[in-house]
Amino acid sequence: MERRDALKNLLTFIPLGTAFAGITAIGLRFITPKKQEVTRRIFALHLEELPVNASRKITDLRGKDLMLVRTDNQEVKAMSTVCTHLGCTVQWEKDKQEFYCPCHGGRFDKNGKVIAGPPPAPLDTYPTDLEGDNIFIYFKDKNG
Ligand code: FES
Repeated sequence: MERRDALKNLLTFIPLGTAFAGITAIGLRFITPKKQEVTRRIFALHLEELPVNASRKITDLRGKDLMLVRTDNQEVKAMSTVCTHLGCTVQWEKDKQEFYCPCHGGRFDKNGKVIAGPPPAPLDTYPTDLEGDNIFIYFKDKNG
């Protein structure tokens, strides 16, 4: 008799517990604030500090390293310096107009596209903007 009661209780409480957990999960979803995507715009350099075909490594206020490349008179690209293969730091080769990863020979063109070696994806790129002589970079971060 006791065994039967225990089984009955178990069969009653398992579905109740499952339903309670589900309702709690749904409720938490509405209570906790959603992470919002925030765009940061930072000043990087003055245009005259970056000659055409040259690059310049900068570090933003959150410690993210970026490489700026001035591809023509009015165009500046901003890319992550982190190789998409195993995370080594890429270097700009001005004479070849390419990024080179010394770890396993990965190569990226001036737009960050893979042109040789093992990297599986292009370098992360960031939109840039010229306002007069000022170069700005845009970052998207999750906030919250
Ligand atoms: S880490 Fe860059 S090619 Fe392997």
